[in-house]
Order: sequence, then structure tokens, then C-alpha cells
Amino acid sequence: MGDAQYAAGLPDDAALAEAGLRLDVDGAVATVTLDRPERRNAMTFATWRALAAIGRSLPADVRVVVLRGEGPSFSAGIDLSMFSGGGGFPAGEDDLDAFIADLQEGFTWLRRPEFVTVAAVHGHAIGAGFQLALGCDIRVVADDVKFCMKEPALGLVPDLTGTKPLVEIVGVNRALELCLTARTVGAEEAARLGLAEITAPAGELDKAVADLVASLLAVNAGAAVATKRLLLEAPGNDLAAQCAAERREQAGRLREMFGGLPG
Ligand code: ACO
Repeated sequence: MGDAQYAAGLPDDAALAEAGLRLDVDGAVATVTLDRPERRNAMTFATWRALAAIGRSLPADVRVVVLRGEGPSFSAGIDLSMFSGGGGFPAGEDDLDAFIADLQEGFTWLRRPEFVTVAAVHGHAIGAGFQLALGCDIRVVADDVKFCMKEPALGLVPDLTGTKPLVEIVGVNRALELCLTARTVGAEEAARLGLAEITAPAGELDKAVADLVASLLAVNAGAAVATKRLLLEAPGNDLAAQCAAERREQAGRLREMFGGLPG
């Protein structure tokens, strides 16, 4: 698969197809589909660069981004051909750091407060696929889901932004157990651990996602942005800092709604 460099603006359909992706923007909802079902939606470096390009260029009125997978699996993780012949990774330490940072940009934009990101996960979500789901704000999973952090079994660490959300969701000890056994987590356990906010029968995943999206869009758009920003700050703040953040965000809302502070 090619590795197009992206100019400003959304990648076109051909560039997206090269990267194994499809993008549908319908008003306030953008749907990104991992679209290499014959490879179980294995992802290449090009996939992550294209995801970053999508994140940089979505229209300003997009409020919800749904990530889903075509075919039997959400994603089998990194395309293992990326490792063939040594992977062609840069040799210099700084270059390698910049190389991985570039790939991580395919994931970090999912945390931006301008939109809520929803992973619709069915079948296998392995390695980078699991991390992509972890990068989203809300995971809706089908009852056939199989999460697996396989990197340590392959001699690697999870480095595509997944370790922070994993630890925040399940705690350090459970995260250790999941990563260092590289075992599979099914739907029932995923829900119990907080890795899935919503579960649905396999045939009803799309409907569960559509219902969630409708509910998300029913909430005031400005309040949604401010609230996501506020909630994402909370784990890094002590109580006083978070109270201050609440006041700051609320002042912004009151100004927006009433054109000034009441009282
Ligand atoms: N990279 C490249 N090709 C892949 C990958 C992958 N990660 N996963 C599946 N494929 C290919 C298979 O080689 C196969 O190709 P073929 O039809 O030419 O033989 C095709 O996709 C279908 O795969 P199957 O194994 O036949 O599908 P099945 O549904 O039985 O199993 C599963 C799916 C469990 C995902 C299995 O393919 C698998 O274990 N894949 C490898 C997962 C992996 O180790 N990923 C890397 C994790 S680490 C990281 O992401 C950083």
C-alpha cells in the first residue's frame, strides 16, 4: 500500500482507499471505516497517517466521529508486513522518535473536544486495533468482540497511545495482566472492566451506534465541547484545579448563552 503525504484538506477517496480507509461525512457525523476486510482491516503506517490527515481536516460542523470496521473484524492490528525486512524503521534515535510520534497523531486527534469519538467494535480488535478503540471516547461493542493487546507477545510495547486510556479505565494492575498475558477479553468482561460503555448483539451494533449518535447530537453542541474538555482534564487535576476548570468552562457557557454573566 502507498504512503501518500497529505496536503491540507481531507484525503480524497483514492488516497483513503490506498490507506485502507473509507470516509463518509454526513452533516454533523463523520464515519471512518477500516476497509480492508480481506486483511481483517490490518493497518499500515499509511492508515495512521491518513487518520491523522482526517483529524486535521474534518469540517468544523462535525460533532461525532464513528470508527468502524468492514467485514468480520474491527481490526487485526498492525499489518504484519510492516515488520518484514526489519520494517524500514529509521535508525537514529531522534528520527525513530519522530517516526513513531507521527504515527501516534493518527490516534491523538480522537481526544480533541470538538467532537465525540465512538468506536463501533466487533470481532477481533488486536494490538493497534485495540489501541484505536481505546483512543475513542466511547466504545460500543458487539457481543462477538475480542480485545487483545498482543504487542508484548510479539516483543513490542503498545505505543499507539493506548496505554494511558487502558490504565485509566482498568487500573495499572489489570492493564499489566491484560498486556503481559496478551489474552483475549470478550464482551461481557469488557463491559465489566469499563472497556465497553455499550454492548449489543452482533447484528444490532449499527443500530446501537445510531441510537447513541442521535442522543449525542441532541445535546447542546457548545456544552458538549466544553464538557468533554472539562472531563478530559479531570484525571490530571487535583480538586481545586478541577473546580477552577469547572468555573472557567461555565463562565464560557454563560457568556455564550446569555451574552454576559448573570447577576
Ligand atoms: N497483518 C497482515 N495480514 C493479516 C493480519 C495482519 N495483522 N491479520 C490477518 N491478516 C490476513 C491473513 O494473513 C489472511 O490472509 P490470507 O487470506 O492471504 O491468508 C487474511 O488476513 C485473513 O486472516 P485469517 O487469519 O484467515 O482470518 P481469521 O478470521 O481466521 O483470523 C485474526 C483473524 C484472529 C485477526 C488472525 O488473522 C490474526 O491473528 N491476525 C494477526 C493478528 C496480529 O498479530 N496483529 C498484530 C498485533 S500487534 C500490533 O498491532 C502493533
